[in-house]
This record gives sequence, structure tokens and C-alpha cells, in this order.
Amino acid sequence: MATFDQIKGFVFDLDGVITDTSLYHTKAWRQLAEKLGVTWTKTLEDGLKGISRMDSLEIILKAGGIENNYTHDQKVALATEKNTNYVNEIKKMTPDNILPGIKAFLDDLRDNGYLISLASASKNGPTVLERLQLTDYFPKIVDPASLSKGKPDPEIYVKGAELLNLPPEACIGVEDAAAGIEAINAAHETSVGIGDAQTLAAADVRFDDTSQMTLANIKAKMG
Ligand code: BG6
Ligand code: MG
Repeated sequence: MATFDQIKGFVFDLDGVITDTSLYHTKAWRQLAEKLGVTWTKTLEDGLKGISRMDSLEIILKAGGIENNYTHDQKVALATEKNTNYVNEIKKMTPDNILPGIKAFLDDLRDNGYLISLASASKNGPTVLERLQLTDYFPKIVDPASLSKGKPDPEIYVKGAELLNLPPEACIGVEDAAAGIEAINAAHETSVGIGDAQTLAAADVRFDDTSQMTLANIKAKMG
């Protein structure tokens, strides 16, 4: 792991880190899964976190053993249906949906000259940032449509560091999903996980929730 004073930039996941949208993704996928007769489980739910829209749909269909029952066009229609429900949820979002401590943390990063980029798999990322009034904090956003592979592949985090003109070793990646921590580690960045110890066992540094994520606490854990 890098030392704290080597760190010059932060590459952020969005859903479940900056805001609680992972709940809305879960709600919309669950609705679709149950409509298709696929049993919803906690393992299925956790396995979808950080995963792109079409990959998530494939995982759900496979869980129900029905992945060969649909044409490509039908799968696109199902993913679009989920997204329509998700977009309806995020329309209601306000800055109150920013997770605890995140605004103060972003201000602290900015005041201390750290560079910031967004590495979200979500094509709705810019809309969510607008709803939260956080767009100005994220001048650099990886376009998920430009990726050849989704998380847990490191590509999105490699690009997040490139957008900041920093080597990966000078970056911290922040994630709530196991697939995201795997991506950060494979990109050779320092991984900060937000969530439970079992799910995020591979994280270099971990906090139970966002309120504990401060520069001082990260420094104390990195050494
Ligand atoms: C990730 C979420 O950030 O984005 C996943 O954790 C979601 O749950 C993925 O499937 C893609 O999002 P979207 O908004 O492009 O469907
Ligand atoms: Mg996430």
C-alpha cells in the first residue's frame, strides 16, 4: 500500500458512496426480477453492486436459469424498463440524499488540493450529481460507455487516475462494493471500502459508514 503522503487524488464510486442510490438500484432490479419469477436473495442483491446495467440483467436472468429465454432486443427492453423505474426514483432526489460526512469530506479534499474524479459504472451518474448539487466537485468523470469491461475489471479506475494525470499509486479509490474494491486493487490504487468487513475484506482501509471517512482517519489507517 502507498503511504498517505504519496496520495494526490481521489477516484470515487457514486452509488452507495456519495449517495444512497444503491437502494433505488436494488428496488428497481428486485421489481424486475420478481416480475420475471426470479427469487430475490441477499447474495444476488450484493452481487449486483457496482455492476453495469446489462451485466446486472445477465446475473439476474442466470440466477433464475432463464438467460436463454430472451433475445438481445428483449434483454435491452428489460434493462430499459429497470432504468425507467430507476430514473423516476432519482428525479425525487435532493442534496438531502448526500450520505453523512461526504460534503465535508469533498470540501476538505478541495481545500487541501487533492484532485477528484468519478468512476461510476452508472450512465445516470451526471444526473445524480446534478440532483445532489455536487457537479462542481467532479470536473472529471469516466464515461462508462467508453469502457470495454465493467467492474471488477480495473479499467474504470485506471481511467479515473488518467483523467487526473496521476499514476494509480498516487490515488485512493473509494467503493462500497466488493467488485469495486477488486477493481481498485487491480488498478494498483489504495482502496477505501465503505461497508461491512466481510463484504469488503479486500479493502486496504475500511470504514463502517461514510461519516467516519475523513482525511485524518484515512491517514491514521494508512500510516
Ligand atoms: C453502479 C451501481 O454504480 O451503476 C449498479 O452500483 C448499477 O447497481 C450500475 O447497475 C449501472 O447503472 P446505470 O444507472 O447505468 O444503470
Ligand atoms: Mg457503489
